[in-house]
Amino acid sequence: MKHASFAFSGAAGLTHDRIEPDNPFFAVFGEALAMTVSDLFSAADACLMLDDPDEKVAQTCAAARHWRAGELSLQNGAPPTAIGEPGRPGQPQLVSPRQLPRRSLHTPEGHAALIHAIAHIEFNAINLAWDAVYRFRDMPRAFYDDWVQVADEEAYHFGLVRDHLRGLGFDYGDFAAHNGLWEMAQKTAFDPLVRMALVPRVLEARGLDVTPGIMKKLAAHGDHAAVAVLEIIFRDEVGHVKIGSRWFHYLCTQRGVEAKETFRQLFDQYMNGRSKGPLHRSARLAAGFSEDELDYLQGVG
Ligand SMILES: [Fe+2]
Ligand SMILES: [Fe+2]
Repeated sequence: MKHASFAFSGAAGLTHDRIEPDNPFFAVFGEALAMTVSDLFSAADACLMLDDPDEKVAQTCAAARHWRAGELSLQNGAPPTAIGEPGRPGQPQLVSPRQLPRRSLHTPEGHAALIHAIAHIEFNAINLAWDAVYRFRDMPRAFYDDWVQVADEEAYHFGLVRDHLRGLGFDYGDFAAHNGLWEMAQKTAFDPLVRMALVPRVLEARGLDVTPGIMKKLAAHGDHAAVAVLEIIFRDEVGHVKIGSRWFHYLCTQRGVEAKETFRQLFDQYMNGRSKGPLHRSARLAAGFSEDELDYLQGVG
């Protein structure tokens, strides 16, 4: 298990002595700081590798704040290490998607299992965002602004969903989960263009398609608190997919490749050209998909 043991000490000379007592970083770690972090890539790596969800959320929030305050540099002499396993708690147990039982929403366990599945997505999304920051160097500063913001919002989402799950008498780790999101991070670690195409523009975009249906189900079940959480998540996720679209297009332009054709080729290669279910066209359009791309995705559905 990896525990937090780093502080931020950035270009502005910030040290933990100067962190206000109400700073979440200070609150969580107090004086027990073993390592100083002054660049964004080290901060991203540290957040990525934290196992404990509460620590990961608190440090993500602190790192985002330090980045926004201009206290972390983009200077790091060490190249990114090969992608491995991110920090995660011992539970949930990770199984293949086929081993996940189908449960009815009409039992307490089934209801909690659905909320748990969302919590698991959000937990993974924190790691995915930090990995994009950590791994892809030499991108414009705005790329890091965007992905730090995504990490921060995913941490917020995870906290909201976990709180709700606790209110139902369960917690993160109580149900098995699958590792599909991180497996896609591993498959796309070699190239930011491929990562932007496949993670935000395929996996997160799929969330836009299915979230309204889940909200409907939960509303019918009377879980209006979960619906309110999903409304926040849905709004932010349109932004995440849009960020993916922005950087996918940026990288296509930089390399002189045609974006629409490149996306199609990558979709065919990584998703076997198969799209699942109806698309939320208006949300996807707002998130940077073109009508042509949506026609293509609908056609292969
Ligand atoms: Fe999220
Ligand atoms: Fe997201």
